[in-house]
Amino acid sequence: MNILITGGAGFIGSHLVRRLVHRYPEYHIHNLDALTYAGNLENLKDVENAPNYSFIKGDITQAAFLEKLFGQTNFDGVIHLAAESHVDRSIADPMAFVRTNVIGTVNLLNAAKTFWRKHGEHRRFYHISTDEVYGSLGETGLFSETTAYDPNSPYSASKASSDHFVRAYGETYGLPYVISNCSNNYGPNQFPEKLIPLFIRNILENRELPVYGDGNYTRDWLYVKDHAAAIDLVFHQGANQKTYAIGGFNEWKNLALVHLLCDIMDSKLGRATGSSKELIAHIKDRPGHDFRYAMDASRINRELGWEPSVTFEEGLEKTVDWYLKNTAWLQNVINGNYQRYYKEQYGG
Ligand code: NAD
Ligand code: DAU
Repeated sequence: MNILITGGAGFIGSHLVRRLVHRYPEYHIHNLDALTYAGNLENLKDVENAPNYSFIKGDITQAAFLEKLFGQTNFDGVIHLAAESHVDRSIADPMAFVRTNVIGTVNLLNAAKTFWRKHGEHRRFYHISTDEVYGSLGETGLFSETTAYDPNSPYSASKASSDHFVRAYGETYGLPYVISNCSNNYGPNQFPEKLIPLFIRNILENRELPVYGDGNYTRDWLYVKDHAAAIDLVFHQGANQKTYAIGGFNEWKNLALVHLLCDIMDSKLGRATGSSKELIAHIKDRPGHDFRYAMDASRINRELGWEPSVTFEEGLEKTVDWYLKNTAWLQNVINGNYQRYYKEQYGG
């Protein structure tokens, strides 16, 4: 089997690539990634010479490039993760999200449609999406596969649009597809623009911890390797033309999460208990900030037997340990572009 993974040099993609390269020596894993600020081949150093792995540098916004690629290699499956993924960046520059998340996805669908037309039956286009397409919950309730779409940010609107295109290609052209919508991931190799790695880095450097608004926003957190395991399962055993909700059964208000992270960091760094909490600063809220996300992942649990393997406390400790061991990785990604982004987003 030739499997094309897009966005494999990013956070979730790199964990998925590693898992599939190790678990399926009979497959060839082709990792297509444009290496934007979020893509980093350092994430895959340990598998770069594996005989069943290849890297292709390329941009999914380039339709002609994708047509050529699909003409050259007979892909049996696509697992599509490449995206612009950060909500704050989508507020600053929505068009980048339209280009990659919408147009890039449609380009991939077109390439698959063209080349899979004759013998598409056993193939599968697997689109990786987010719980953010469902909008925001109040204090109670859960999102599930049947929740109506109601995206609020340019990021979630672009992901919702791409989900709709995937379903439309299934309905209109018979493209065999599957979609999963997952909650917030955390773990090693996450770019330090997202809450957890940003705050780990700031605690390390004794910088302010910028909590948006009152910090009472709630997210449902899942360890990235558990997401990669779920993707593996859905790709192999999920049903065509179906959607799977994936989540951690693990809701945290931002402020409570930050307190836990501060305690873990204080203990690991040998600092006085409570010292990192003093870095917390409540800053101007994110525009259109979704109040609460929480996924009902009971379908994937019931039908495919998936469940998270680590508790949040275990996962967060593993994550902190990874960042403390990999300070060189962190330093390498905090380049000039990152400094510019940080200044525009947080000032100072
Ligand atoms: P990421 O930002 O860490 O990685 C994205 C990758 O896509 C990078 O390697 C980047 O170089 C690549 N990429 C971006 N634009 C590209 C283009 N035009 N052509 C080719 N490659 C391009 O993202 P992530 O957090 O790993 O998320 C991966 C996927 O999972 C995304 O589709 C995201 O919407 C979805 N998702 C993420 C989370 C989360 O919490 N991080 C949760 C649910 C779903
Ligand atoms: O729910 C899945 C989504 O989770 C994914 O689709 C996205 O790709 C991913 O980025 C993530 O989106 P969030 O906006 O939930 O993640 P982020 O880490 O940016 O923020 C988590 C919460 O923390 C959110 O309520 C905003 C808050 N926050 C974030 C940052 C970066 C702060 O209070 N301060 C910050 O500096």
